Amino acid sequence: MKTINISNNAALTSTVTTATINELQPAAMAAARTLENGDGAGNDFLGWLHLPSSIDEAQFNSIEHTARILREDCEYVIAIGIGGSYLGAKAVIEALSDNFAAYKPSKGARVLFAGNNIGEDYLHNLMDLVNGHKFGIIVISKSGTTTEPAIAFRLLKAMLEQQEGKQWAARHIVAVTDAERGALRKLATEEGYVTYIIPDNVGGRFSVLTPVGLLPIAVAGYDIRALVAGAVEMEKNGEDMMVTYAATRNALYNDGKKIEILVNFDPRLHFLAEWWKQLYGESEGKDGKGIFPASVDFTTDLHSMGQWIQDGERTIFETVLSVGDQRHAVIIPSDDADLDGLNYIAGRHVDEVNKMAELGTKLAHVDGGVPNLLITIPTLDEHCLGQLIYFFEKACGMSGYMLGVNPFNQPGVEAYKKNMFALLNKPGYEEQSAAIQAKLK
Ligand code: PA5
Repeated sequence: MKTINISNNAALTSTVTTATINELQPAAMAAARTLENGDGAGNDFLGWLHLPSSIDEAQFNSIEHTARILREDCEYVIAIGIGGSYLGAKAVIEALSDNFAAYKPSKGARVLFAGNNIGEDYLHNLMDLVNGHKFGIIVISKSGTTTEPAIAFRLLKAMLEQQEGKQWAARHIVAVTDAERGALRKLATEEGYVTYIIPDNVGGRFSVLTPVGLLPIAVAGYDIRALVAGAVEMEKNGEDMMVTYAATRNALYNDGKKIEILVNFDPRLHFLAEWWKQLYGESEGKDGKGIFPASVDFTTDLHSMGQWIQDGERTIFETVLSVGDQRHAVIIPSDDADLDGLNYIAGRHVDEVNKMAELGTKLAHVDGGVPNLLITIPTLDEHCLGQLIYFFEKACGMSGYMLGVNPFNQPGVEAYKKNMFALLNKPGYEEQSAAIQAKLK
């Protein structure tokens, strides 16, 4: 079985030595024990910890059954959600998809996303696209009241009911939400939607292996059993890798490396990095502390951010996601005129050039004082993605405890919402509204 791996050049380029990193390993192991014992901060949100190994046949069957109906009956399925109710599914689907799937015929429903922004034109364009076509909706919100998905759902639900009738709509809207509480649960019960539960003890950013992620991934036609099997493997055997990652990044942070850049050399990993940024940003960025999680897509961004990374303020380190095998072979052709001077690589795979760009970049950045961690992913398939997801989740919990924060809350995300509600004159926000108006004068 192919397994992701981690290797570590962090000590090559900074005042952090291998010894310093090793010194933090007991703390990383202790953090893992704190998670396992459930006696740390935020311990009411540890439902993700043994989630992969707890998913049973009935759950898989149910998700696959619902996915099949949506896939077969609909041309488009719109997954509505934001943050943790969006990024995991988006990351996995993008990582597994043909880069140009949107422009090619599709065997089943195409999965589209909404409710992850408040773009008026975005919603207009989406409704324009699905107008007159059979579409279904997966509405995902733990609270059921998040503004972005609520707006998108209100619009798309009305459109679907008008287009197909209330009955058909109710059979093709699936709600993923809290077991009992919230507006979406109430509506789903009233309308008779198929529903799935987001467990109380699983926070949004740790929810990709619940129906939040698994249902849209299954609708897109991917193997959720292999995804979960990969996660189970990491749940059982991944601790050494997690200890290396958590210890190294904390050693670097203590040494002034305040920014971690997640690097990929495969465009399909762009959204995996977006998912990772939410996971680490919301988990660690609090109490005035936390590594800032950033990301780049190479080689694309070597032509934009490469200068800064090579030569800017030395407060960064890189974690590189390196994909082993490509799915398809493309060989660079020879050209008689050779005006572009590429004949020296004629006959070679495009990926060989990419791999040399990757190695060359690593050497250059290490020389430039950027510590480097390397995560190798043998192939970009469901199994390896499942491993990677669980690896990052548990290492995140461990790393947060090492930093001394509660990795499972996100008090900071409420501040902008309160201001937005006050500015929109939402009932109940009158006092805040008056205070803001005074500030804006
Ligand atoms: O990680 C989180 O808790 C957040 O990003 C939430 O997932 C996001 O705000 C969406 O919340 P909800 O699922 O309640 O709509």
